[in-house]
Amino acid sequence: MPWKVNYLGSFVDLNVTPQDKPLVAIVGRSNVGKSSFINTICEFKELARTSSKPGKTQTLNYYEVNRDFYLVDMPGYGYAGVSKVLRQSWSDFSQNFILNATQLTCLFILTDANIEPQELDLKFIAWCGEKEIPIHIIRTKIDRSKPIIINKLEELFKLKLQDHWEELPVITRHSSVTKEGTLELRLAIERMCK
Ligand code: GTP
Ligand code: MG
Repeated sequence: MPWKVNYLGSFVDLNVTPQDKPLVAIVGRSNVGKSSFINTICEFKELARTSSKPGKTQTLNYYEVNRDFYLVDMPGYGYAGVSKVLRQSWSDFSQNFILNATQLTCLFILTDANIEPQELDLKFIAWCGEKEIPIHIIRTKIDRSKPIIINKLEELFKLKLQDHWEELPVITRHSSVTKEGTLELRLAIERMCK
């Protein structure tokens, strides 16, 4: 069944973010493909604004799906184009949002499948583990490298995760260009938000 998606609004005040439905939030480094992922999964070309320049999404953008649950596009972390102070305030904001989202069903953490494991991602994922946040890691933009490279980099990533995790979190792959992985993730989201 196609999803009926409705843009609900953009929030910067954590006191007024909607908490009345199950929620799946999308987080990850700036420019990793979060907004594109939302567009692909919702089968909407221009639902969430994307950009080749990092730092596009700066608010919590709520999309209501079938009146059943929310998908939330989050600002990216680690955007190099801003001051350290601003970067810190973004990460405080995102972390507070995650810790206080009582209806958070799952946090999708997007990581670029084409590059070596990034310290920032590993740190953030370790933080989620400490706080017992339910996570699902997605390796994005898998259309950009040969499968052999994608496999190798994922193995490397898993090795790094093993420093913090006895049992690895769920890791799947996605491309907003070829749509690989989209159907499985839609089904997974539907299952968790029922
Ligand atoms: P911020 O909001 O700035 O944090 O970025 P974001 O994570 O929302 O990334 P966005 O979806 O805006 O995409 C960033 C860039 O990556 C854009 O130029 C997209 O076209 C490109 N991109 C996103 N997903 C894919 C993908 O699966 N494959 C390829 N090849 N490019 C992608
Ligand atoms: Mg974005």
